Amino acid sequence: VPDSIRISPTLTLPPDAVTQTFAFLARRGAGKSYGAMKLAEGMLDAEAQIVALDPVGVWYSLRIAADGKGKGYDLLILGGLHGDIPLEPGGGAFIADLIVDRGISAVIDVSHFRKNDRKRFATDFAEQLFHRKKARRSPLHLFVEEAQVFVPQRAMGDEARMLGAFEDIIKLGRNFGIGATLISQRPQAVNKDALNQTEALFVLQTNGSQERKALEAWIVEQGVESKTIVDELPGLPIGTAYLWSPSWLRKLEKVEIGKRRTYNASATPVAGQERVEPRPLSRDEMAKVKDDMAATIERAKADDPKALRAEIIGLKKQLATAGTADPAEVRQLRDRVAELEARPPERVDVPVLRDGEVAALGAVAETLNAAVEAIVGGLNRIVATRHVAGPIPARQAPVARREPPRPTECAPTRREAPQRAANASRDDRRFRAGARRILQACAQFPDRGVTKPQIVALAKVKAGGTFSTYFGELTAAGFVKVHGGRCFATSDGLAYLGGDVPPIPRTVDDVISRWREEFRDGARRMLDVIVEAHPHPVSRADLSVRARVANGGTFSTYLGELKRAELVDENDHGAYLAIAELI
Ligand SMILES: Nc1ncnc2c1ncn2[C@@H]1O[C@H](COP(=O)(O)OP(=O)(O)O)[C@@H](O)[C@H]1O
Ligand SMILES: [Mg+2]
Repeated sequence: VPDSIRISPTLTLPPDAVTQTFAFLARRGAGKSYGAMKLAEGMLDAEAQIVALDPVGVWYSLRIAADGKGKGYDLLILGGLHGDIPLEPGGGAFIADLIVDRGISAVIDVSHFRKNDRKRFATDFAEQLFHRKKARRSPLHLFVEEAQVFVPQRAMGDEARMLGAFEDIIKLGRNFGIGATLISQRPQAVNKDALNQTEALFVLQTNGSQERKALEAWIVEQGVESKTIVDELPGLPIGTAYLWSPSWLRKLEKVEIGKRRTYNASATPVAGQERVEPRPLSRDEMAKVKDDMAATIERAKADDPKALRAEIIGLKKQLATAGTADPAEVRQLRDRVAELEARPPERVDVPVLRDGEVAALGAVAETLNAAVEAIVGGLNRIVATRHVAGPIPARQAPVARREPPRPTECAPTRREAPQRAANASRDDRRFRAGARRILQACAQFPDRGVTKPQIVALAKVKAGGTFSTYFGELTAAGFVKVHGGRCFATSDGLAYLGGDVPPIPRTVDDVISRWREEFRDGARRMLDVIVEAHPHPVSRADLSVRARVANGGTFSTYLGELKRAELVDENDHGAYLAIAELI
């Protein structure tokens, strides 16, 4: 057993690191998880107990050797794609007991849970862990990925309990042998009081100004000079950190975090490389854990409001038909019903907008729409004037006809097909299948139009030259119009199609279902996950797990397709629905 924890060739930490508080802060992909797992490896080498709370789904890799084949560390993996046993949202306290009672290291992979289940689990887990450790003071280190989720700067509603539990662990845990590592790409969203408890801060590459401001605040709080280092953060290479530990280690130095011994699961897989499965624990051990878990799940079911309601209904039925039965039995049934009915009602935490608020929001939206219309109209008039003022090349003659288009003009009409339609059959020969599909794509969205990249996706034509040629031909024929960056079929265009238009999506769900048809299964599942998460972004790791698309080449291809169709965009926090204005 080594008597120090090696982080890099130049940095070792004393064994009491296990009960200290750390933070790894940096932008996505800078090496936070990698560095924190390196630290975890050091602690495991020192035979310390570690637990990782992992909503990202990468910590299971500690059980696999770096080559992806051999055995890594012995730890229990709960939940996620690689778990020995699945997790129940109600199982937080049970898992805390298991970890304290058996003294085992574990990865708690909550990447499969929905947001609320994740929080519920984490709250129960943290409360019970703290409570139990008070009586059992052996060292344990808790790693918390996406710390801003579990230790938020601003706790809303129920989150207060969760924040309280994690704050206890971080502020008081040391007295009971608990250390913690907070990992986050959004230092400004992590609770400041908790972050200020950090004894050692690893900061890797950081670009955002909010992020750097938050870091500077931390450093000032610790009473050290910071400015030049904060300025250096955007240029740090991946895997290089500044370590600040003013009181515990009395250090401020640059560290290149060393290679991990275990598997780097978040590395982009090499094409053709086998998928690696973690090696399971012993059969006996697992059977025991599973039995215990099943018992807890049974207990949890006994408290489930739906199951309770069902039982009450069943008992009442029994009572109704028990008229002549044994009075003792009837009394027993009655008591049970009374007992069940006396339980507190199901808690519902969904915020609901009142009618007034809905109306107010509607009014705001309308005003905004009107303003946008006015601006777009104005811009179009400017564009139109410029065209008229400048010399109009003969080839562009139809442009002169173009009045500022209004979207309604483009909707299918019942009136007689205008003059141009008479030429439709003649035009028929002129337009190739691709151009026709472009026109159909425009015709399908008469209300909101489509952007050019969206047409490319819908009409399945090659972007670039091919698309421009077709689109140019349709424009010259007066069959399509561009209005505020969106393309519409004109009434001439519609007449030309002569009703050969796929069904027009009318509701938000329609629009999304229409788009779903365009993608292969994996990309479609990714779109579904992103729609479901709206308005919140989904991290790539999360998206990969929830859509069941391994985070590699295919994943990037699919995400690229969704992005090119302008349905999805991505920021530092992940992918989000870009056509959100629909919802
Ligand atoms: N110290 C390091 N040594 C070698 N590779 C690293 C190191 N840190 C990060 N990487 C590489 O960068 C990738 C992204 O790092 P990761 O820790 O997942 O980023 P983050 O958690 O900050 O989003 C890793 O999968 C790994 O391939
Ligand atoms: Mg990470």
